[in-house]
Amino acid sequence: MEKAQQELIIKRHDLSTDQSLRPFSAADEYLLNTLNDSNQKPNALAIYHDRFGFLTCSLNALNPTTIITNKSQLKALGLNVEANHLNLSPTSDPLSPLAIPSDFVLMKVPKSFSLFQLYLEHVAQNSTKDVTVVLGFMTRHFSTQILEIAQHYFENVEQSRAVKKARTITLSNKKEVTKANCVDELTYNNQSYQQYWGVFSSKHIDYATQYFLEHIELKTTDDSILDLASGNGVIASEISKKIPNATLHLLDDSFLAIESGKLNITGANIHHHYDNTLADFKSESFDLIVTNPPFHFEYEIDIQIPIQLFKECFRCLKPSGNLQLVANKHLNYKTHLSSIFRLVEVLAENDSFIVYKCSK
Ligand SMILES: C[S@@+](CC[C@H](N)C(=O)[O-])C[C@H]1O[C@@H](n2cnc3c(N)ncnc32)[C@H](O)[C@@H]1O
Repeated sequence: MEKAQQELIIKRHDLSTDQSLRPFSAADEYLLNTLNDSNQKPNALAIYHDRFGFLTCSLNALNPTTIITNKSQLKALGLNVEANHLNLSPTSDPLSPLAIPSDFVLMKVPKSFSLFQLYLEHVAQNSTKDVTVVLGFMTRHFSTQILEIAQHYFENVEQSRAVKKARTITLSNKKEVTKANCVDELTYNNQSYQQYWGVFSSKHIDYATQYFLEHIELKTTDDSILDLASGNGVIASEISKKIPNATLHLLDDSFLAIESGKLNITGANIHHHYDNTLADFKSESFDLIVTNPPFHFEYEIDIQIPIQLFKECFRCLKPSGNLQLVANKHLNYKTHLSSIFRLVEVLAENDSFIVYKCSK
């Protein structure tokens, strides 16, 4: 928990149990101060990548529109708005048009530059001609790619001085650019996969995922299957080729991942879930849960989140069911998995990756 300016109480409200992680950074504070010190008072403020709602809550009086990319972000925002007795201001996803074009934008620069580009593309299509965009980031995360992408959309790109190891870049004088469709195409196993910019592993299907698909253990009797943290849906899609009649559920915290999954796998027995927990599934629902679980969250590494998800997997598996997952070897999940599951087997391992099968 952290007290923000104006004595707001902002919490992360995520699955992490690490109390040392902060709900906002000096870069968020710099963005807020830049707007508060500006002579320009926005009529239509848009906020991008406000992970736990710090900026949206702090600027509640301006009724900002917050662009939401993750279900966990939406949940944290709602809880922080409620805890601080604020009004819930409008939200939008990054693929839908805004009701009113923005004339001022605050954006925390995401770690993924392809997500950053998708955000700027959304700004380009949903802002006034004289919009001002302020980007905030920690100085150690600076890359010239930020400038290159920004210069594609704006004539004026001005960097600030550093304050508390954070910086801002102000963009103005918007260029006329051709609308992009914001989708990458990847090929795997003779199939083309599409995914929106900002979805995990944009250049090729992740090598851990490829290793997993080579070693996954499937039974034709697996009837109800969950692809947890499904990304572009490649794991579910490859499984559906082998067990076409199975009911497949894909779940991901990222809106863009779920929308990408819908481009790659559809059908009467395919269900897409935009969520960050398994709370909506009944206990003992699945024969099989498969996952290449998340452990990077922006610049943080936190294995507490996958461990919480593994506990939920245990609850949602049928008594005869199993969880199969791939992990980077250094993460050492074995001890944690063994404290949750009766039996943890290694299906395959090489120098980089390990595939586990966990039975109830
Ligand atoms: C390592 S990627 C795997 C993606 C895909 N399955 C693949 O193999 O290419 C992890 C995924 O976890 C998602 N994620 C992060 N936190 C999550 C959560 N709490 N619940 C569900 N998905 C989550 C991310 O959005 C990302 O798509």
